[in-house]
Amino acid sequence: MALLYKNTYLYHGLTNAVYGVSRKERFHAVVRWVPDDMELLDVCCGDGTLATYLARGVNYRGLDQSPAFVRQAQALGRAVELFDVRAGDLPSADVVVCQVSLFQFYPQAESMLARLFDAARCRLVISESVFSLSQSRWSWLASVVAWGTKTKGMSADTFRFSASSLRQLFQPYGANLRHVAEVCNGRDWVYVLDKSPMVP
Ligand SMILES: C[S@@+](CC[C@H](N)C(=O)[O-])C[C@H]1O[C@@H](n2cnc3c(N)ncnc32)[C@H](O)[C@@H]1O
Repeated sequence: MALLYKNTYLYHGLTNAVYGVSRKERFHAVVRWVPDDMELLDVCCGDGTLATYLARGVNYRGLDQSPAFVRQAQALGRAVELFDVRAGDLPSADVVVCQVSLFQFYPQAESMLARLFDAARCRLVISESVFSLSQSRWSWLASVVAWGTKTKGMSADTFRFSASSLRQLFQPYGANLRHVAEVCNGRDWVYVLDKSPMVP
């Protein structure tokens, strides 16, 4: 298990430092696409922090393979389950979210995206970072972060998407594209794919 996914304080400390004033925006940019009264599946959810930003009527379910994150989430009363998305079929939900996690599935990111899309009955929301400390110009920092985020099954620990490789990844979904935007001062991109007309 990757070091950074063994301890929620370490993980949040690092992400808060990296996102700075945008640390809440990365969640708000996603939850605005989750209508009330819907079932939400949060894939690679970490400790389920996203659940704390949702409207009360949303029925949240998170999946993550880190036992430490799942333990912490459950202790906080969040509906998060231990689940390796490489090993099991994804359950379906009205809205599926995958936040800052697609890079881990490279070079199978296309098939992972297809699985996420299939699991979403109405809407898929992906947010992905295009800047990472694993690509820092300080090679020691890049190596530490790449090592600290390398999970089982990852074949390329320094791979991260760029804005243009993300655009290419989503190209086959053009007909479903509801929204695309840069958020958090350009650090992340949010893609929203709709399967059927949604409200709102
Ligand atoms: C960068 S963190 C993102 C966590 C959360 N989505 C967020 O935005 O803070 C990546 C997460 O993916 C999880 N993960 C990696 N591979 C996984 C897999 N095969 N199945 C389930 N979760 C996985 C890690 O445990 C980690 O919690």
